[in-house]
Amino acid sequence: MMAPTTDVLRVEDLSVAFQTRGGLVRALDRVGFTVGAGQTMALVGESGSGKSVTAYAVMGLLETAGRVTGGRAFLGQTDLLATPPRTMARIRGRRIAMIFQNPRAALNPIRAVGKQIADVLLRHGGATRSNARDRAIEALRAVGIPDPARRAKAYPFELSGGMCQRVMIAIAVAARPDLLIADEPTTGLDVTTQAVVMDLIGAMARGSGMATILITHDLALAAERANRIAVMHAGHMVEEADTATLLARPRHPYTARLIAATPTAAGSLASLQSVPGGLPDLRQADRLHCRYAGRCERRQDACDAVLTMRPAAPGHAVACWNPL
Ligand SMILES: Nc1ncnc2c1ncn2[C@@H]1O[C@H](COP(=O)(O)OP(=O)(O)O)[C@@H](O)[C@H]1O
Ligand SMILES: [Mg+2]
Repeated sequence: MMAPTTDVLRVEDLSVAFQTRGGLVRALDRVGFTVGAGQTMALVGESGSGKSVTAYAVMGLLETAGRVTGGRAFLGQTDLLATPPRTMARIRGRRIAMIFQNPRAALNPIRAVGKQIADVLLRHGGATRSNARDRAIEALRAVGIPDPARRAKAYPFELSGGMCQRVMIAIAVAARPDLLIADEPTTGLDVTTQAVVMDLIGAMARGSGMATILITHDLALAAERANRIAVMHAGHMVEEADTATLLARPRHPYTARLIAATPTAAGSLASLQSVPGGLPDLRQADRLHCRYAGRCERRQDACDAVLTMRPAAPGHAVACWNPL
């Protein structure tokens, strides 16, 4: 039986469009998913499928070219998409935190890392002038940085990429957020450091009941680290299920292709196949119909009907007219 969880974040029908010189790009259309307390939900899909745009829209951080054209994103009772920017600025940092690829670029290059953590603790973490420094050092110790009192004085350029990501994690969890969004947090790190960083994120989540959205193009990483997986393709959500179910019994042909394209420890190079065809042009892409049809070997006439996510089994949803 599944343990009951409360939803920390519930995204419904999220649509985002970008105004570009080449026309309107419908980057997201009616995307929905939920993340429960203490759970890790992985958003998975090829590059360009809309994972980061989903995160940025939820955080209220879309660039000016991008606009939310519909939907809701409830953090508890608060619809983030209907929240004014000044209130959103407070919610970010305090209730939602985010870590990115390339942590060194996300840190302030001219401020010692201990001070950067202390800043967040003072602003959002209930620290006082007198204890902020000690708490920052404690936070560095908690993310496994050796000799934290000395490292607190270091600048980002003096630390490795893995150390910088640990600092980012320390900053992210300093305010004890309800939700952590990790967008490709280990891309660009070496394999050993990747595992260390993912272990750390997992430990932070377990210790605090924090919900985590893990954004990755790497299905193997999602399979290893997430309780649930949501698969995106060309701005549509195509399948969502708990990790074991999704891997053992994918219903969407695209999910099945992604699984087949993912090298496993047991798999050989010969069994590697990539997903054929490219993402459709999002300027021409149909909002309401299947955007995978052009690449799909299971396409049939019924696929011309308007598409929605439908339950395939309890806790398992799929957007496909001819599922596996
Ligand atoms: N600033 C932008 N201007 C125009 N289109 C954008 C912009 N940012 C993202 N997009 C569109 O949204 C799509 C999804 O982008 P993104 O969410 O970054 O993909 P990923 O899944 O790799 O994170 C892109 O392929 C692009 O078409
Ligand atoms: Mg991205």
